[in-house]
Amino acid sequence: MIISDDNNKNIKNKGASNDAPKCKSQDLEAKEVDFDKTYEKNIRPKTFEEYIGQSALRDTLKITIEASKKRNVPLDHLLFYGPPGLGKTTLAGVIANEIGVNIKITSAPSLERPRDIIGILMSLKGGEILFIDEIHRLNKVAEEILYPAMEDFFIDLTTGKSQSVKTMRVPVPKFTLIGATTKAGALSGPLRDRFGIIHRLEFYTIDELAQVIKRSAKILNIKIDDEGAKEIASRSRATPRIANRLIKRSADYALVKFDGKIITKQIAKEALDSLCIDNLGLVTTDRALLELIINNYDGGPVGVETLSVALGEDVRTIEDVYEPFLLQKGLIARTNRGRRATKLAYKHLGIRYTEQNGQMGLFD
Ligand code: ADE
Repeated sequence: MIISDDNNKNIKNKGASNDAPKCKSQDLEAKEVDFDKTYEKNIRPKTFEEYIGQSALRDTLKITIEASKKRNVPLDHLLFYGPPGLGKTTLAGVIANEIGVNIKITSAPSLERPRDIIGILMSLKGGEILFIDEIHRLNKVAEEILYPAMEDFFIDLTTGKSQSVKTMRVPVPKFTLIGATTKAGALSGPLRDRFGIIHRLEFYTIDELAQVIKRSAKILNIKIDDEGAKEIASRSRATPRIANRLIKRSADYALVKFDGKIITKQIAKEALDSLCIDNLGLVTTDRALLELIINNYDGGPVGVETLSVALGEDVRTIEDVYEPFLLQKGLIARTNRGRRATKLAYKHLGIRYTEQNGQMGLFD
């Protein structure tokens, strides 16, 4: 799902030509609605065989799963980290399916009260997987409850008040915790130390994304040729979740404008141009961010808080959603005095780089 908003109205669009389509920003975080959930669920791979990409992690997981089956013990707790949309939840589902156990999916912000985490731990059956998304947002109390549950499979319950308070040690079934986070660095040390495997999910290559696109298109009965899949792949920010959304948008476009013709490179290009997704996969907010650094701050460095206020996006969204891909593409650089636009960013936006407008600080 792509939601339009109007956050960029006060930012000059110097790089864009006058006849370019009126571009609103696309919400890359794109909170799921029920329709999207069903759509995503239908195309989600269920086995390692079907799962494309992350080959190093897949190999590690296959060995770990086999070893735990041979030892007849639950799988070690796993922590996946990396930018959103790379398949952390999907992979957790694949693991559960490969082991043949249930998975309970929750996210840290919904485990606000002690009884939330206690309730979910007590509801698990032996061997089951508990998936906690955004685990870096778990509060201290929930973390303290989780430690002995992860380590020795018990929780300490307290009853009564002040002087008559009693602690009861209650066993919980042997389970596997899979934590997912966009910010491994924000996890507390003791929590991080309790995971047996900590793995970063990598951005996808264009070839891998083209495979994801062709697989999803087949399931959804969408006709697309190899070049069409490659065109969508190259504009999907190296992220399968985005690729899957863009096939849908391209299929809508092909249906309405080309009477349901097969999606070719040209149709994909037109469809994505109409959504203001450029040839690198940048959306309006990405370009606005780069233009802001270049036009208003001489190329930077500029602090993320300043960018946040000017763009009307919160700091977390800029850091978690927009920046990782801009960094990966080499369009921005992080310095200890803030972000600066690279020469590549100037080139991409068609802005001439000069020593004045692209001045780099002495200590960058
Ligand atoms: N859909 C989303 N992520 C996928 C992946 N890694 N492999 C196959 N299909 C996917």
